[in-house]
Amino acid sequence: MHTVVLATQKGGSGKSTLAIGLALAAKKAGQNVRLIDTDPQGTLSNWQSRRGIAEPMVETIYNVGRIETRLEALARGGVTLVVIDTASGVSATTAAAIRCADLCLIPARPSITDIEACAATLKAVRGWQKPFAFVLNQTPIRGRRIDNAALALGDGAAREMSDVLAQPFIAMRNDHQDALACGLAVSEYAPTGKSAEEIGQLWRWVEARLGATASKPAAFPDASFPLVPVAAQSGETASAPRAGWGDGLAPWDAGL
Ligand SMILES: Nc1ncnc2c1ncn2[C@@H]1O[C@H](COP(=O)(O)OP(=O)(O)OP(=O)(O)O)[C@@H](O)[C@H]1O
Ligand SMILES: [Mg+2]
Repeated sequence: MHTVVLATQKGGSGKSTLAIGLALAAKKAGQNVRLIDTDPQGTLSNWQSRRGIAEPMVETIYNVGRIETRLEALARGGVTLVVIDTASGVSATTAAAIRCADLCLIPARPSITDIEACAATLKAVRGWQKPFAFVLNQTPIRGRRIDNAALALGDGAAREMSDVLAQPFIAMRNDHQDALACGLAVSEYAPTGKSAEEIGQLWRWVEARLGATASKPAAFPDASFPLVPVAAQSGETASAPRAGWGDGLAPWDAGL
């Protein structure tokens, strides 16, 4: 059984949306999936109430000491994938979830404030020597802003970009909000839509990463974080003005 934890201290980054999306994409791919909601806000639990379908089951665990034993029981019961949603902020429950993770996914919107907010989560993940990857979420369809965010995350983690930056980026689209509003995942709400396609591809990336990390222990070099997004253009010196986040090419609502 694999355990994937969605965590970042920044609120509204997409932890719950991606947890649901990935869980349903994995279920569609044949996994026996359980969702665990450790956020007292209850986003996953509320979603399941609206859903009115038992599968995939959502369990709430707010007690730090229960996570590990529950995961052991689920593994014995034949669950193959557990996706844990965590609350924003830094809490003992989130730390306990991270400690049990086979892979931590850290969602970030492509803005400097979101990326700066990843630092605390990254520190906890590194503390437990857990494999991790950032997921750029709510991105405009195209634009330099995304590349800048991707560069900042990759540099901040001081790892190969292909290891730490999940693919594809998840664009901002109404399908995600509309699906959750009616207790569905994007793969159910609009199975042939772009959002479902991206989430399906993201699941395949996560699945491959889970396979890879099982055979390769992670290395954790130290790096200062957060950092300033670096311009990709050649010829700039390190102290030269960096590229801005706003690129004037794609409005934030380009993907709606
Ligand atoms: N790719 C996306 N496209 C459009 N809307 C999105 C996307 N991802 C998330 N959202 C919306 O952004 C809002 C925040 O998402 P979500 O609740 O998943 O974040 P969160 O990190 O779980 O927040 P919290 O920290 O409060 O638990 C929600 O309204 C959600 O529907
Ligand atoms: Mg949430």
